[in-house]
Amino acid sequence: MAEEKVLWKPGNLIYPVPAVMVTVADGEGNSNILTIAWTGTVCTNPPMAYISVRPERYSYGMLKKTGEFVINLTTEALVRATDYCGVRSGRDTDKWKDTGLTPGKASVVSAPIIRESPVNIECRVTEIKELGSHHMFLAEVVAIDVDGQWLDEKGKFHLEKTKPIVYSHGEYYGLNGLLGTFGYSIRKKK
Ligand SMILES: Cc1cc2nc3c(=O)[nH]c(=O)nc-3n(C[C@H](O)[C@H](O)[C@H](O)COP(=O)(O)O)c2cc1C
Repeated sequence: MAEEKVLWKPGNLIYPVPAVMVTVADGEGNSNILTIAWTGTVCTNPPMAYISVRPERYSYGMLKKTGEFVINLTTEALVRATDYCGVRSGRDTDKWKDTGLTPGKASVVSAPIIRESPVNIECRVTEIKELGSHHMFLAEVVAIDVDGQWLDEKGKFHLEKTKPIVYSHGEYYGLNGLLGTFGYSIRKKK
C-alpha cells in the first residue's frame, strides 16, 4: 500500500525545469548573463515565452531599459557556466570573462547571444507583471538562432545531441535516453 501523503505548505515544486542563461544589454555597450529557472513557453502562436526575475538582480535594470533579452539554452558542456552565472552578479564581476563564453551579435535584438549555446531565443518584452518576489517578463520570440552543427543533411535539428540539461530541486541533470515522442501514449502500433 502507498504511504500516506504528507501535507506541505504551498511552494514551488514544479520540477524539473530548464536552467537557461539569459543575456541582456543596456544599449550603451554593457551586457550581462544571468541564470534563470523560472522560464517557459506561454503561447505557440505568436511564439511567446517568459522569464521571472527578482528586481534586485543586476540584469533587471538592463532588461527593463531595453525590453529585450535572449534565452540561451544550456548543455552538459555549459553546466558549470550555467551555475556560475546564477551565483555571481554582474555588479561585481564580468561573467563573460570569468566563464570564457563568447558574446555574438543577435539577429534582431540588441542583447548579445552566447555563441557556445546551441539555441538562442531572441525575445522582446510585451508585458511586465509585478507578481511579488519576481517580476514576470512576458515576451514575444522575435528570432531563433540555432547552431548549424546540430542540423543534419535534411535540415532536421538534433537537440538531443547537444546534451541538454534540466534543473530539479537544486540539482542539474543530463537527459539519458529517449522514452517516447509526443503523443506516443495514444498512437496505434503499426
Ligand atoms: C539554477 C539557477 C536558477 C535561477 N533562476 C532564477 C530565476 O528564475 N530568477 C531570478 O531572478 N534569479 C534566478 N537565479 C539567480 C540569479 O541567476 C543570480 O542571482 C545571479 O547572480 C543574478 O545575476 P546578476 O546580478 O548579474 O543579474 C537562479 C540561479 C540559479 C543558479
